[in-house]
Amino acid sequence: MCGIVGYVGSSHAKEKVIDGLRRLEYRGYDSAGIAMPIQGRIQITKAVGELKNLEAKVSDPEFDAAVAIGHTRWATHGKPTEVNAHPHGNMDNSIAIVHNGIIENYQELREWLAVEYGIVFKSETDSEVIAHLIGLYYDGDLLAAVNKAVADMRGAYAVAVMAADEPDKIIAVRKDAPLVVGAGNGFNMIASDVPALLKYTRDVYFIENNETVELTKDSVVIYDEKGSTVDREIKSVEWKADAADKADYDHFMLKEIHEQPSVIRETLLNRLNPDDSIKLDDISMTKEDIENFNKIYIVACGTAYHAGLVGKMVIEKMAKIPVEIDVASEFRYRDTFIDDRTLFIAISQSGETLDTLAALRDAKDRGARILSVVNAVGSSIARESHDVFYTLAGPEVAVASTKAYTTQLICMYLIGLYMGSTKGTIDKEYYDFMLSELKSLPAKVERILQDEEKIKALAERYHFNEHVFFIGRGLDSGVSYEGSLKLKEISYIHSFAIAAGELKHGTIALMDKDTLVIALATQDKLYEKMVSNIVEVQARGAHIIGLAKEGKTEIEKTSDEVIYIPKCADEVAPVLAVIPLQIYAYYVALEKGCNIDKPKNLAKSVTVE
Ligand code: F6R
Repeated sequence: MCGIVGYVGSSHAKEKVIDGLRRLEYRGYDSAGIAMPIQGRIQITKAVGELKNLEAKVSDPEFDAAVAIGHTRWATHGKPTEVNAHPHGNMDNSIAIVHNGIIENYQELREWLAVEYGIVFKSETDSEVIAHLIGLYYDGDLLAAVNKAVADMRGAYAVAVMAADEPDKIIAVRKDAPLVVGAGNGFNMIASDVPALLKYTRDVYFIENNETVELTKDSVVIYDEKGSTVDREIKSVEWKADAADKADYDHFMLKEIHEQPSVIRETLLNRLNPDDSIKLDDISMTKEDIENFNKIYIVACGTAYHAGLVGKMVIEKMAKIPVEIDVASEFRYRDTFIDDRTLFIAISQSGETLDTLAALRDAKDRGARILSVVNAVGSSIARESHDVFYTLAGPEVAVASTKAYTTQLICMYLIGLYMGSTKGTIDKEYYDFMLSELKSLPAKVERILQDEEKIKALAERYHFNEHVFFIGRGLDSGVSYEGSLKLKEISYIHSFAIAAGELKHGTIALMDKDTLVIALATQDKLYEKMVSNIVEVQARGAHIIGLAKEGKTEIEKTSDEVIYIPKCADEVAPVLAVIPLQIYAYYVALEKGCNIDKPKNLAKSVTVE
């Protein structure tokens, strides 16, 4: 969850590192710090709260160096205080480290270092042990000291290290936490995520597990676990540098909501040949493979899981293969039926969510074929999968996921259509119809975005309710979960999603005149049943905002307000239905004065269990 940035060049390292940290703000943080070798000593500066607090402390232009490592921390071990913030130094600050991840045996190491070597710890963090271990082993060769220290450490980590006696280099090491190197002309950088590098370079090396990397301004040397050098191919990252900027929007979330027509178009068109066949040339899934699968597991967390809920129904309908879906933290600990006839689909925006990654590894060990749907190129989940289907959403900065979700849905349709057409479970007419429906989505999303003011007005009217329920049937029930999550995570209003047909089995007891119900009724064959469900809650005094396709006006009789989405096939309605729910959540949070891009208690990338 923390952000790491390091820079080795000829001058002005401070500015580059702080700029990089700002681009990682979306990961969430509560404190920040920077270390620079200045006049033979490592100067460590830290500040609690926003990055600007750290910037103020290091604003003197004289206080700069050619090399720096920086960190934004999200507290896990120890409170968010200055002392607990990174970088951490050893006893005399001749070594400084920044760390992302968890050192599982830190208690044991702390005790050993304190008893055997009289080391006094300053912070409550697990990370500080790393600085002391390296300090203990250091005898003029930082690379050797880091390798020795790593042998003592158990857990997940990306660590960047500098030594006062070798002020022209950074050593970094990774195990189960993301780490990338940005290669430049006369400088090199290290970071926990690509957006931190984009302003300075697009040429990156993805560092693999158990690899160590030595950076000077003119060289990048990667070593494997045994200490042999690794010949890693440099990758060019396509993301635009301003893709991680807010442009003219007040919040990244709003900008990302508005990017949906273009990212949906890109994700779709990138996978279509001129004759409209689906292009999966980088995905080695043959007809025999597809016919061999007898079950599919979709595993993900949060919003990505909600995309999977829709994916399950779509893939079952099109490919006629049973699909089970589970949240990764549950999947990992139950007895699942995985073998070499299982297709395991992991969905993840960041590609670093630890629970999803662990579930993937477990399924892979047991013989499943792994297909991941990922946004962050070269992330851990992408690298560890047999095949990757990238969502071309670009960097998603707001903690609340929007454009990643809709592009994940596009991937679900393409996977379903590809499997169905390859197996022969859908005919050409249906395939062509679905493709034309998918292609019409960007323009239809655009039309919904033009209704932003109307949805904003609804949010101004309805943001007082303490409880909001999202109900729907079929695909709408999947979208209800996502609408509910969006609202609760950014506005802190208690919301709850439930399949509409389940209401009468208990939850309807909660309905009264103070309840707001957002009722999704986009599925033609379930429309009348949904209208009956709306009548049931209306009879208990609840206020209703209905959501239906244009032309389906029956719902007006039973709803206080209705939001319409353009006409479309039922299958693709989730892509349209979620847009008003995202906008509604955004404006409710704005009305309530919430910190929209960085909601309390949340971080963008959850790399701990
Ligand atoms: C909610 C949200 C989270 C993520 C979840 C999985 O808006 O963003 O629920 O969807 O933490 O993250 P990824 O997709 O990165 O695996």
